[in-house]
Amino acid sequence: MKLAVINGSPRGRDSNSSRIAGWITSSLEGSVEVCHAYVFNIARYDELMAKIGGCDYYLFIFPLYTDSMPGLSKAFMEKMEEHKPLFSGKNIAFIIHSGFPESSQSLTVERYTRYFASLLGMNCTGTIKMGGSEIIRSAPDSFFKDKVAAFQKIAKNIERSEPFDAKALEIIGSRKRHGAFFNFIFKHIDIGGIYWNRILRKNKAYKSRFDRPYLND
Ligand SMILES: Cc1cc2nc3c(=O)[nH]c(=O)nc-3n(C[C@H](O)[C@H](O)[C@H](O)COP(=O)(O)O)c2cc1C
Repeated sequence: MKLAVINGSPRGRDSNSSRIAGWITSSLEGSVEVCHAYVFNIARYDELMAKIGGCDYYLFIFPLYTDSMPGLSKAFMEKMEEHKPLFSGKNIAFIIHSGFPESSQSLTVERYTRYFASLLGMNCTGTIKMGGSEIIRSAPDSFFKDKVAAFQKIAKNIERSEPFDAKALEIIGSRKRHGAFFNFIFKHIDIGGIYWNRILRKNKAYKSRFDRPYLND
């Protein structure tokens, strides 16, 4: 089987989506040939359609951006729609992951993934939702032992083109409960703010963080 893994993150290879993809692809049998596609380079979409068009199964992984998918993920989906005959009748699965801990935030865009699959005449084998993903890039796999094991089960399900293991979905989608110490820290220190402001500064975007370029005067 040829499996296309579509990474829907604008961060590309250095993304949490990549780490999640790795948890799955590293557990696949040798009989599965993996073909990677990244959405960050819009100029290469036509080339990528030719590259993934011959695959049998599609795994689309994207982060939640403002309660939906990143614009680049949507642009890639629209390019797939343009090339519908390449994809009709084939299997597709999605992984939506988000920064906030509750996977339920992704319920709306999950509905869209099913609609997208039907629009292309594809068979949606499942949409996996996971919260709390922003920390993945900064921590070792051992920090997410249960989730990594659950994704390894999902890899087996993909290999056999079977429905996803219900217990694995529960583990992946469950919210990590912090103990009293972490709750105290989160309550009194704006860890999220400190982290994201650091990224804004790194990208020289801190000063313009409240800009509203589309608002008319
Ligand atoms: C522009 C932007 C918007 C985001 N919007 C949300 C959101 O609405 N809900 C949420 O839980 N996380 C949100 N996040 C957090 C991402 O989903 C999270 O950081 C994810 O792990 C990024 O994955 P990636 O490294 O694969 O791109 C947002 C991140 C960015 C950069």
